[in-house]
Amino acid sequence: MQLIAANWKMFKNSSEAKSMINELGAILGNAAPENREVVIFPPFIALECASEEAKNIKGLAIGAQDVYPATEGAFTGEISPSMIKSCGADWVLTGHSERRHVIGESDGFVGQKTAFSLENGLKTILCIGETLEERESGKLEEVLKRQLEQGLLNIPQNICSCSLVVAYEPVWAIGTGKTANNQDILDAHAIVRSLLKNIPNIDAEKTKILYGGSVKGENAGEILSLKNVDGVLVGGASLKADSFAQIINA
Ligand code: PGA
Repeated sequence: MQLIAANWKMFKNSSEAKSMINELGAILGNAAPENREVVIFPPFIALECASEEAKNIKGLAIGAQDVYPATEGAFTGEISPSMIKSCGADWVLTGHSERRHVIGESDGFVGQKTAFSLENGLKTILCIGETLEERESGKLEEVLKRQLEQGLLNIPQNICSCSLVVAYEPVWAIGTGKTANNQDILDAHAIVRSLLKNIPNIDAEKTKILYGGSVKGENAGEILSLKNVDGVLVGGASLKADSFAQIINA
């Protein structure tokens, strides 16, 4: 089962989310293909209505783009796992490159969010990836190792391999139209797979590894056929029902 995930970022209000999911349902005949699991990550304010609308499409789940690692408290502007779940959402993204590089989240904070989300029953996609500068200075493996080790520090024991997903998203390929080539993807995913073997409490072979960064209808089929690619995380091309459906059906 491959996972096709849509990160809507700061796009779409509730009514736009609802109509896009409705349109997607019409294109897909109200069910994702048998071999595909689909998750949409709308902005917080659209979580509840997106979850309601997603009930009409078999194989479609909803997730939040961020989370705060506490149950409740004086954390202005933040949202807890139980609040996310109360909206009908089951998934969360942690460590997205925009949170790391635009908002300034550290590897350690991403790790706290990942562990707390898993402990509190949210399926979690931990995003990792190198900048162009890091790649060009030969630091790809070092960066992936650090982000994985710190991102997965203190995760609970015995989590189901269906609850934790890693997304490899080279920062230089996100929103740039510049997709990593097949060899780059094969190499990075092989590195991630082997690094996962040294992380405690993880079934490295069964953990899904997604590719993200300028995925679109035209390249999705080829990317999804590569070894160690268990799905894709899509930004720009997930904002329209027809282009996202093309990826889901690729
Ligand atoms: P993109 O974004 O598909 O627009 O490159 C991917 C992501 O940020 O997850």
